[in-house]
Amino acid sequence: MIEIKDLTKKYDNKAVLENINIKIPDGRIYGLAGQSGVGKSTLLRCINGLESFDSGSICIDATELNSLNEAEMREFRRSIGMIFQNFALLERKSVLENVMLPMEFWKYDRAHMEKKAKALLERVGLGEKLNSMPSELSGGQKQRVAIARALSLDPKILLCDEATSALDPAITLSILELIADINKELNLTVVMVTHEMSVIKSVCDDMAIIEAGHIVAEGKVEDVLLSDAEPVRKLIGERKITAPVGKDLIKLVIRGKEEHPEAVCELARNSGIAFGIISAEIEPFHSGEYMGHMYLTVDPEKAETLARKFIEYGIDASSGKEFYL
Ligand SMILES: Nc1ncnc2c1ncn2[C@@H]1O[C@H](COP(=O)(O)OP(=O)(O)OP(=O)(O)O)[C@@H](O)[C@H]1O
Ligand SMILES: [Mg+2]
Repeated sequence: MIEIKDLTKKYDNKAVLENINIKIPDGRIYGLAGQSGVGKSTLLRCINGLESFDSGSICIDATELNSLNEAEMREFRRSIGMIFQNFALLERKSVLENVMLPMEFWKYDRAHMEKKAKALLERVGLGEKLNSMPSELSGGQKQRVAIARALSLDPKILLCDEATSALDPAITLSILELIADINKELNLTVVMVTHEMSVIKSVCDDMAIIEAGHIVAEGKVEDVLLSDAEPVRKLIGERKITAPVGKDLIKLVIRGKEEHPEAVCELARNSGIAFGIISAEIEPFHSGEYMGHMYLTVDPEKAETLARKFIEYGIDASSGKEFYL
């Protein structure tokens, strides 16, 4: 369990993180989202002990980081792996040597290091590339090497700082799948910093949004992202949807129950009220459930009745002339 309490961190007397409170249970994938410069990387560096902080506490499995001396901190840092946007591989070393580096630092014996590094590279799908140099790899392959290296000391926590931001969408998905699989296999706790909502939706269980050093939204991913909270709108970029002339809009929040999309069709058939679908964005979230919003057009005098019928089905529905998408 990672437990951060009232954390404040200053640079030059200016707070870049203020009163941060986060709890991350073991084995979860936690997303930290926010725009550039809000303090996401600083928070990750505090969690892995690379950065000191001014007040508050960070406890990892009941160990308070501020209580550790230098040697204890080094030891603690073994239990945390980290990957970055730019992969941070050593260009002059082969793939295998890159993965062995952390073990070399801890003076593991050669045979053990090689065996472990080969097994990890096999696991990330690079068993054929042991002797390649980083310059001979694609971005996605480089990140796989970085993941193997991050796992070499059997960490309990993996910190990812914009790990997929330099990759194209298809490669991003394959890296996210790998991280999600490893999370399950090893019961690894993952903290994932990103500015991409699609990353959060596809792998994270819980999330926080940071604005200017403060947490402004926190909770289960679907609760945060399907809410109309202002921080979410700001992060996604506000878009307004307006009812066509002579119509009202109904906004539906589809929350993953299998019967929800069917309810829309059933009401279209049986409600006796004609409506159209003007916009719908329903996607699979990490839980495997399909969730999102749907906007309907309907004659104004029927809007309230139709919204009520959806609510009777357990679907959150509201009517109006305009909504933020
Ligand atoms: N070593 C440092 N000394 C002084 N100020 C710093 C230092 N590192 C970061 N900052 C400042 O702290 C704030 C938060 O930086 P941080 O790198 O944590 O943001 P971020 O959310 O990771 O941004 P990005 O999405 O661009 O990576 C910024 O205003 C930054 O300028
Ligand atoms: Mg950053």
